[in-house]
Amino acid sequence: MGLTTAENVVEKGGSAVIIGRPGRRLDDAVASLSRSGSAWPIAADLTNWEQVVEARKQLTQNHSDATLLVNAAGFVLPKPFLDHEVADYDAYHDLNRATFFLTQTVVRGMVATGQGGAIVNIGAMWAHQAIAATPSSAFSMAKAGLHALTHNLAMELAGENIRVNAVAPAITRTHHFDKVFAPDQLDAALEGLSGLHPLGRIGTSQDLASAITFLLSTESSWTTGAILNVDGGVMAGRN
Ligand SMILES: NC(=O)c1ccc[n+]([C@@H]2O[C@H](COP(=O)([O-])OP(=O)(O)OC[C@H]3O[C@@H](n4cnc5c(N)ncnc54)[C@H](OP(=O)(O)O)[C@@H]3O)[C@@H](O)[C@H]2O)c1
Repeated sequence: MGLTTAENVVEKGGSAVIIGRPGRRLDDAVASLSRSGSAWPIAADLTNWEQVVEARKQLTQNHSDATLLVNAAGFVLPKPFLDHEVADYDAYHDLNRATFFLTQTVVRGMVATGQGGAIVNIGAMWAHQAIAATPSSAFSMAKAGLHALTHNLAMELAGENIRVNAVAPAITRTHHFDKVFAPDQLDAALEGLSGLHPLGRIGTSQDLASAITFLLSTESSWTTGAILNVDGGVMAGRN
């Protein structure tokens, strides 16, 4: 979702800084974005606080002119509540800590330059509603926190002309599911989940990127503090 959004922004003439774990996916993302415009990498595992500190330093030194921010890093591995270990819990909440302080760094730049800006957090439908087939207690708790952060920052930053919104996706086909299901089970597993959604299919990364790009753009200039359900209708009701 984050990469597809960056592609959409770069296609419209923007530039992108991608923060991701060091490695091939980050390098490939930046190489592919650079074919259409300007893109820079910052390598960091966001669950590692020292690497978050270093990423903040690079953002301050090299990218304090940023006016758009998408907080997209995340994952979910469904697991029953009684099976959660501390490490499972920390994996979600450490990501929220990184999101909180990286956002603070970017907002400091937006305030210092006086340009205003737009921020979109990727939350989750599970922060609103639990699904028996995908038990996700620690994930949902963290994403509910991200939704609450969205409301708080919308209020605190409105005076600086910085809008803060979130999207709440239901099941969306992204690279993420390559880690959840074996390759030979992936299509069948996702097809099985399609029926949950009133619109009869799971989402695509472009479904989310279209909503996020709208919330980043001046087309949504009177929208802040919104948690936009981009979920095939699941929050209206489940099939
Ligand atoms: N797909 C869904 O059904 C769904 C539903 C609800 C919410 N969401 C949320 O949507 C957001 C985007 O996920 P996606 O579906 O687009 O999955 P994705 O394709 O796997 O993208 C998520 C990105 O986050 C990165 N990331 C994860 N942990 C990280 C860490 N510790 N440090 C740095 N980067 C890290 C991943 O890097 P690696 O490639 O190195 O792992 C990946 O590039 C996430 O916040 C997710 O929780 C997804």
